[in-house]
Formats: sequence, structure tokens, C-alpha cells
Amino acid sequence: MEAAWAFILSASSFLFLIFLFKLQRSSKKNLPPSPPSLPIIGHLLLIKEPVHRTLQSLSDRYGPVLYLSFGSWPVVVVSSPSAVEECFTRNDVVLANRPRMLAGDIMAYGSTSIGTAPYGPHWRNLRRLTALEILSPHRLAGSLYVRLEEVRLLVRTLYEAAASARGDGFARVEMRSRLQELSFNIIMRMISGKRYFGAAVDAGDAEVARRFKEVINEEFELSGTDPGDFMPALRKVVDFKGRERRMVDVAKRADVILQGMIDEFRSRRKMSDSGREVESKTMIDSMLSEGYSDDIIKGHIMSMVSAGTDTSAVTIEWAMSLLLNHPDIMKKALVELDDIVGQDRLVDEADIHKLPCLRNIINEAFRLFPAGPLLVPHEASEDCTVGGFDVPQGTMILVNAWAIQRDPKVWDDPTSFKPQRYEGLEDDHAYRLLPFGMGRRSCPGAGLANRVVSLTLAALIHCFEWERVNEEPVDLSEGTGLTMPKREPLEAMCKARECMIANVLGQL
Ligand code: HEM
Repeated sequence: MEAAWAFILSASSFLFLIFLFKLQRSSKKNLPPSPPSLPIIGHLLLIKEPVHRTLQSLSDRYGPVLYLSFGSWPVVVVSSPSAVEECFTRNDVVLANRPRMLAGDIMAYGSTSIGTAPYGPHWRNLRRLTALEILSPHRLAGSLYVRLEEVRLLVRTLYEAAASARGDGFARVEMRSRLQELSFNIIMRMISGKRYFGAAVDAGDAEVARRFKEVINEEFELSGTDPGDFMPALRKVVDFKGRERRMVDVAKRADVILQGMIDEFRSRRKMSDSGREVESKTMIDSMLSEGYSDDIIKGHIMSMVSAGTDTSAVTIEWAMSLLLNHPDIMKKALVELDDIVGQDRLVDEADIHKLPCLRNIINEAFRLFPAGPLLVPHEASEDCTVGGFDVPQGTMILVNAWAIQRDPKVWDDPTSFKPQRYEGLEDDHAYRLLPFGMGRRSCPGAGLANRVVSLTLAALIHCFEWERVNEEPVDLSEGTGLTMPKREPLEAMCKARECMIANVLGQL
């Protein structure tokens, strides 16, 4: 009997020791290097705007895989091509989750939209619908006329402005609002079949567009880092500048606008059934015929508009700003356009692949000014390792694309605008040029964005002479905001090219 007790005691001590050993190992993870932190708030006080710059200087000190605590939330910041490769190859599935945030819960229908939903069957369904239906190459070919029409309208309004200019024929034009309206109209026509900005738009639709832009801007502002997400215990007692209340309010206003769009679409569809109006297939059409609920459709409209409008517009604005500061490169792109397109028609999407100089300019604008400098936050759904360090389940992953794209260890002369750096290189620069992210959660709108940015930029260069508003170079400082906008909206002097007036501009 005594021997049995001795056996039971020693066996349970042995098991207890194994348990202790495991416990100790799990609490002594090999986490990435980290700066000293404060209790409760962790490293939050270190995080200043623009966040990508702050994280870059921390990574310079602590290494390309960096560990931070945003309050109680563990965060790993990745800033080297090899770490990015690990994240989006070996760990791609594990890191395909999104952190669940208050903003997504309140403003994206309980985090059910494509950009906020956790990795799983619902997200896969939306992603399939988006990639294979709404933004498929076939559907993009079908909506080519929308992009051509919107670019033609932009060129026409610029031509009208230039034609009414006195003296040397140069008109001073503000570009940001024009580019935002172009981008918004293209996306909305693909979503609902209607344009919302411009001369021929009725007053009711223009008012909807104005309110819609207003709620999108407010949602962008509220989607940034929210202290309530990082210190949930304090959220119950501290009202962080009324953010949560503002989110609820803006979500209600957005919902009214979005529901109005779906209801109007349903009634237009009835009209077309009775033969009075025929529509080409739009996103709302596809989603209604696949039986999606109104809430999922509303969340998807919001995702497409907020992810697809400003991103393309700011990229064109940055590219134009860079070209105004480098007239020799603008001239090179113009010579290429005259050579390939000629001077008696507008550039078309079919020309784009024959314009390598334009492609290189756009790559360089994406490299220096990515519209998603930290991509969109990912989350580890299981423990994994990056760069030899442990990344515990539930950690938020921020990829500092901006820092990688300006890293002197990765690029020669990284802060200079040099489109010629890509000449003769076949390489797609994977892991060091990642404006659209990589892997499963990468941007599904890249094909559309590339088409819109290339076509618009090509038409602007091809149809007009451009100059800066004064001798000073265009200021390239970035402002605050999720899509890394230019601090000051771009203004430039624009004049119609004589050789394009008779056959192109005069015919628009
Ligand atoms: C120049 C234009 C654009 C840039 C630079 C850009 C960039 C990005 C980036 C960096 C991400 C996050 C990738 C990641 O988390 O790893 C993303 C996600 C996304 N983008 Fe874009 N984007 C652009 C245009 C568009 C357009 C035109 C659309 C659609 C109309 C779009 C729809 C989306 C959506 C829905 C997501 C979330 C994907 C998911 O979570 O599964 N984007 N984009």
C-alpha cells in the first residue's frame, strides 16, 4: 500500500513539474525587442502622428521585428522584406485575421465587411464575390466605358478652365477635389450604375453625394487608433472624447444613405423588368441576385467606396506633384505617349501596357507615397514565429510598407524620385514594394486601381502642359489621415496642348 502511495505521489510530482516547466516556458516567450513601457498604457505615449514615421524610428533602434504594447494589446511591427516574406508565405493563413476593433463593430455592421471580417467562411464568400464577380478582369473590361467617360469629363473640365484663362493660356487648377470626384464617380457607377458628381447630376443625387462624402470622412477620422480598443477596462468609465457616441451617430447617418441606395436600386430594377430602363450589371445587382442581406450589401458598398476612392485619388495627386517637381521626367512620359498614342486621340487602357515610362513613374509614386503606409492591421489567429521571434496568438501585426520602401538597405538613394531605377528589371519587387499588401488579405482592388491611376495620369500628361504655381517645388509633406494624403491639396498651372486641341480636346 505504501509503495502504491509513493508511486502516486512521485508520479503527480513529476506531472506537476512538467506543468510548471511548460507554464514557465509559455510566459518566457522569445518576444521581439521592445522599448521600455509603462503599466496599463504600454507604449501608447510613444505613438505620434504620422504613425509610420514613429514606427520607422523605433524599428531603426530596436530592429525590423519590433514588439510593442498598445495598452493591453500586443503589437508586432514588421519592417524588412525578409520578415514580410515570412508573414505572407509561411504564416499567411495564421496572419490573415483582422483585429476586432470598436470602429468595425459599430461602423461596419458588426465587423462583417470584407476589410474588417475575421478570416473564415463569411470573409471568403465576400472575397470570392469581389474577386470573381465585382472586380474580375471580365467585369473590369465591361466597365471600361465608365473609366473612359469619367477621364474624358475630367479632361473636358480642365480644358474649359484652360480655355477661359487669359494671357499665356495657363489656368490655375485645384486637383484634389477633381481627382476625388473622378474616383468616386467611377466606383459608384460600378456599384449602383449612377454618377454622383458633375454637371449632369441632378440636385438630389449631388446632395446624397455630399452627405456620403461627409460620413466617409468622419468614419475615416474615427477609424484611426481608438484608445477604447487598447484599454477596454477604461472604456466603461472614460469617455474618450465621445468617440463611441460619434461612431454610433455617423453609422446611423451612413446607414440611411446606404439603405436609400439599395431601395432606389430595387425600384429601378422593377422599372427595368417592365422594360422601361435597361441597366448594365452592377455590384448591387450581383449581391441582390446572390441573396445577400441588406446589411451585408451596405457594408460592402461602404468598404468599396472607402477603400477605393481616396486611395486612387491621392496616388494620382502624389504622382502629379512628383512630375511637377521633375519636368524632365514628365517630358519623357509625354514623348512616350506621343510615340505610342499619337496626337489625334485620347489614350485608352489598351495603350497602357505599351507605356513603360508611365508604369515606372506610377511604381515610384507608390514606393514613395503608399496610400496604405502600414497596410491594414492583421492579427495572428495562432502562435507563430517571425524573424526567429515568437508572435503570440492575438497579436496585432503592422507591416511598415512605407519604411521598407524608403529603406537604404533595400533601395539605392531611397528618398529620390527615380522612375528609371526600374528600367530593365523584370523583377516584380515582391516583399520590397507592396502598396497593395500581399497574401490572402492583399487589396482586391489593385487591378481597378492600376487602371484608374494609369489612364488618368496618362490623359493628364498627354493633353496638357503643366507647370508649378510658382518657382518653389511642390511641397511633398504628408498630412494626417488613413490614406497618407498630401498635406496641402495640389494646385498647378494647366494649359491645353496646341497639337491636341483640334482632334481631341475640341471634340470632347
Ligand atoms: C491606389 C489605390 C489602392 C491602394 C494603394 C490600396 C491599398 C490597399 C492595402 C494596402 C490594403 C491592405 C492589404 C493588407 O491588409 O495586407 C487594401 C485592402 C483592401 N482594398 Fe485596396 N487599395 C487601393 C484601391 C482599392 C480599390 C479601387 C478597391 C475597391 C474598389 C479596394 C478595395 C480594398 C478592400 C476591400 C480591401 C480589404 C481586403 C481584405 O481585408 O480582404 N482598394 N488596399
